[in-house]
Amino acid sequence: MGARLLEGKEVADRIGKDLAVRIAALKEKGVVPGLAVIIVGDDPASVSYVTMKGKACQDLGMYSLTVREPADLREEALLHLIDELNRDPKVHGILVQLPVPGHIDVGKVIAAIDPKKDVDGFHPTNVGKMLIGEDGGFLPATPYGIHVMLSAYGIDVAGKHVVVVGRSNIVGKPMAAMLMQKGIDATVTVCHSRTRDLKAMTLQADVLISGIGKALFITADMVKEGAVVADAGSNRIDDPSTPKGYRFVGDVDFDNVKEKASAITPVPKGVGPMTIVMLMSNTVLAAEGSLER
Ligand code: GUN
Repeated sequence: MGARLLEGKEVADRIGKDLAVRIAALKEKGVVPGLAVIIVGDDPASVSYVTMKGKACQDLGMYSLTVREPADLREEALLHLIDELNRDPKVHGILVQLPVPGHIDVGKVIAAIDPKKDVDGFHPTNVGKMLIGEDGGFLPATPYGIHVMLSAYGIDVAGKHVVVVGRSNIVGKPMAAMLMQKGIDATVTVCHSRTRDLKAMTLQADVLISGIGKALFITADMVKEGAVVADAGSNRIDDPSTPKGYRFVGDVDFDNVKEKASAITPVPKGVGPMTIVMLMSNTVLAAEGSLER
């Protein structure tokens, strides 16, 4: 193995310890940080993410509320639920697990969340703040976690060419917006399904970040020798040799890419734990913010 392993789990555990101190300070002031997670439908991957988020809250001694709704929930009912949570003082962060079923307008749902409780950082107010480089908003947990993890390993992206594969509102777009900011100073290229000659792009990456959601899509021939590779993918693939008959793999063909990269995140225990801990961090920040209002 050539590459250094970027162990998100270890960085996340250290951040969790710092959060525990801030949570204890909040509790002394009578505030228990609270996160409400809403899930509509029973998509197995979403159920598993939501379970992990609730467990992370409990492990840190935070208040956790998981609201599970059926897939045929009416949009109006979801908006009403969000309105209730916006007004609930025990809840500092609200998250609607995405994707939501097709009959629900996701834009309307996100816009209904109080921006001060939008710990996903998906509300247009928070997206706008991130894009213009204004403090005081929330940064989306996955790209935020990738940036914090790279920094924790001393990987400075300033002046480097970062190639992001995928343009989702959850990973690709906010990742690009974050890393291009003044002071972070990466040169960013965003690739997507319509990119012509993707390999020619990825081969230019000093830092390659994938959030495309396709199992083992980034192969070794697409990676420059010595590149840093971060994998935000978590894709379920069939594997009859495992007890459950399936396992999760990233977007990156880890076993082969690790021979070319200088540093790489594993799946699991790479970007995933960073996403969860940055969500917790945003919720603690929201709770701290509630004291100032
Ligand atoms: N679905 C996949 N990732 C995320 C995330 O970070 N937040 C929400 N709300 N839904 C997701």
